[in-house]
Amino acid sequence: MSPESTTNLPRSVEDSVEASATGARLNPSPATFKGSPGRRYYRGFNLERVRTIEDLRAMAHRRLPPFAIEYLEGGSEEEATLARNRAALASYRLLARALVDVRHRDQSVKLFGRQTPLPFAIAPTGLNGLFRHKADFLLAEAAAEAGIPFIQSTMSNDRMEEIARIPGLRHWWQLYVFGGPDVRNALIARAEKIGCEALVVTVDTQFYGNREWETRRLTPSNKPTLASILETIFHPGWIATTLQQGLPSFANVIDFVPEEHRSFFASAFWIRGHMDYALDWKEMSKIRSLWPRKLLIKGLLNVGDIQRAAEIGADGVILSNHGGRQLDWTISGLDALPEARRRVGDRLTLIVDGGMRRGTDILKGVALGADAVLLGRATLYGLAAAGREGVDRAIQILREEIDRDMGLLGVNSLAALGPEFLTR
Ligand SMILES: Cc1cc2nc3c(=O)[nH]c(=O)nc-3n(C[C@H](O)[C@H](O)[C@H](O)COP(=O)(O)O)c2cc1C
Repeated sequence: MSPESTTNLPRSVEDSVEASATGARLNPSPATFKGSPGRRYYRGFNLERVRTIEDLRAMAHRRLPPFAIEYLEGGSEEEATLARNRAALASYRLLARALVDVRHRDQSVKLFGRQTPLPFAIAPTGLNGLFRHKADFLLAEAAAEAGIPFIQSTMSNDRMEEIARIPGLRHWWQLYVFGGPDVRNALIARAEKIGCEALVVTVDTQFYGNREWETRRLTPSNKPTLASILETIFHPGWIATTLQQGLPSFANVIDFVPEEHRSFFASAFWIRGHMDYALDWKEMSKIRSLWPRKLLIKGLLNVGDIQRAAEIGADGVILSNHGGRQLDWTISGLDALPEARRRVGDRLTLIVDGGMRRGTDILKGVALGADAVLLGRATLYGLAAAGREGVDRAIQILREEIDRDMGLLGVNSLAALGPEFLTR
């Protein structure tokens, strides 16, 4: 442990990371003066009184049954990768410029040639139907209104053709490669037909991460334990807004699953068991030649791999450890970002994710060379807490934080932001 980490401020950072990883609801800030006065996140349900993403998270936790919280929050094994995402962000401090005229602040960025009003997009997350009925509609509509891309997961519970009809949506399709070339070809053809702007191929999930806490809630035959089922009784709000049509199904891929495995749990495990272990660069080049629009590879952390993505003609890379849910003890996307940017220059659009909960987090990502960041849990907290309005609120909170933070940092545009605004 460095001397710095046992004294002064960084102790609080470790506490925050710890509290963040364990879902503590007491604000762990050092400014709580050892708990007196006690400071808690907002405990009501009035969105106007919600101030932070962490408030939305506390609201989401109150509404969801424990097994859904576990699915939303959990990481793999010791959750060291999960904790690294917040710790990597916490390892940077901001260096503001003073005496800058900051009357005008522009937080738009250019993504694939198109001006995007905010420097973030919504990450692909599967099984959102566990948080709300029609969840991906709610996320996608909020994204369309904000003018940001929405990446729909292969494991979405809403049909891609219906999401594509949302007016003004920048619709990106995330592909899991499973079940053989016919499945992959069919999904790519559908994404092209409905006009998706980009294909995002996730490559860190050929093996499913060891999310032990999730599996503790399942019986040996992969059914929810009695305790998990009984716990839902205490969450009538969740039942009413989530299960009105029963358990969600994997609407875009269920037809590829043999009929006898199409129940909710059986289909999830069947797909998981049929991921393409042989997926390699040759296969990725094939996907490149099949897909005529923007291609991003999601889940790269090794800078050599990121360079290789450029060589096979990818348009972008998402530096990500899958929200800490796959390989444990790995680095955060943020850790690899500066070197990746140095190596690939402007050849690739670089997007980073992992632990983004504050305007300052997003600004750190941009300062280290990201064109934009992805929000995974931040918008899911809003969704789980209050549906569409909760997602809108999450986006609004981050927009306002970024705007204020740009003023405090002394920058007028995100193009002006660089590593010189950060110190470790
Ligand atoms: C509940 C949940 C489900 C996810 N499902 C997918 C998925 O289907 N496809 C994918 O590429 N990434 C998936 N991810 C990873 C996210 O795309 C993203 O990389 C991660 O959530 C970013 O970290 P954050 O949640 O701390 O923002 C999932 C993440 C979560 C939390």
